[in-house]
Amino acid sequence: MNNHFRVLMLGDVIGQPGRRALNEILPSLKKSKEIDFIGINGENLAGGFGLTEKTVQEAFFSGISFITTGNHVWDKKDGLDILKRDPRILRPANYPEGAPGRGYTVLTKGDVKVGIINLQGRKYLPEIECPFRRGLEIAKKLREEGVKILLTDLHAEVTSEKVAMGWYLDGKVSMMVGTHTHVQTSDSRILPNKTAYQTDLGMCGARDSVIGMRSEIALERFLTGLPVRFEVAKGPVMINGLMADLNPQTGEALAVERIWVERT
Ligand SMILES: [Fe+2]
Ligand SMILES: [Fe+2]
Repeated sequence: MNNHFRVLMLGDVIGQPGRRALNEILPSLKKSKEIDFIGINGENLAGGFGLTEKTVQEAFFSGISFITTGNHVWDKKDGLDILKRDPRILRPANYPEGAPGRGYTVLTKGDVKVGIINLQGRKYLPEIECPFRRGLEIAKKLREEGVKILLTDLHAEVTSEKVAMGWYLDGKVSMMVGTHTHVQTSDSRILPNKTAYQTDLGMCGARDSVIGMRSEIALERFLTGLPVRFEVAKGPVMINGLMADLNPQTGEALAVERIWVERT
C-alpha cells in the first residue's frame, strides 16, 4: 500500500468551458502530480444548471472518479435518473428522506476504500435537514465500517457555515472542502486533528466571467435589476481546487496544495 493517497477535489464545473477545462487540463495534471483520485462538483455541468447523461460522461472521460453536487442538481430531469443509477454521483445527504439518489458512497481505488460525503448548507439555500448532524452521523458510520479516507463537500453560500463544519468534522474526515460560491478562498490548511480544509474550492470554467457566466449579462442584472437570462461565458478556462496527500492507514491529511491552473 502506498504511503500516501493523493486526492484532488475541484470546484463547480460550469457548462461547456468547464468540461473543456477538465478535458484539456486534467489528464496531464493527473500524470505530472501523480494524483490517485479526482472529484468535481457537477451541479453546473449542463449549460450552468444541473447535469445530463452527455455532460456527465464527458466529465468522467477527463479522468475523474466521482461527482458531488448541490442546489442545482435538480435542474434537469435527466439528472434525477442519473442520481438513481450511478453510485459515483451524489446529491447532498441532508435532503429529507424521499429525495432521489444518495448522499454518500464508498468507492475503491486499488486497495484503498474512499468514502465520499456530500452536504449542503442552510444559509440562503433551501431549509433542509441539519448538515452538521447528518455529516457526523455518516462519517462515524463509515469509519466504523473501516473506511479511513473520507472526503466531504459542503455546498454552501456562507463562509462561516463552511468554517464551522471544518471544526466540527476535524479529525472525523480526511478532507472537508466547500463549494457553491464559485470563488476560490486561499485558506487551504490542515486543521489540528489532521483534516485537510478549504472554505471554497472555486470553479472550473471560463476565467474571465462572473462566477462562470457572461459578465455583461451579470452586470446588466446588477445595474437594472431585470431578470436577464444568464449565459455561460467563453474564453480562457481554468480549474480550481484542493489537492491533499492522505494517509490510507489512518485517513489523516499529510499535506495540502491549493490548485489554480489556467489554459488560454
Ligand atoms: Fe455552483
Ligand atoms: Fe450551488
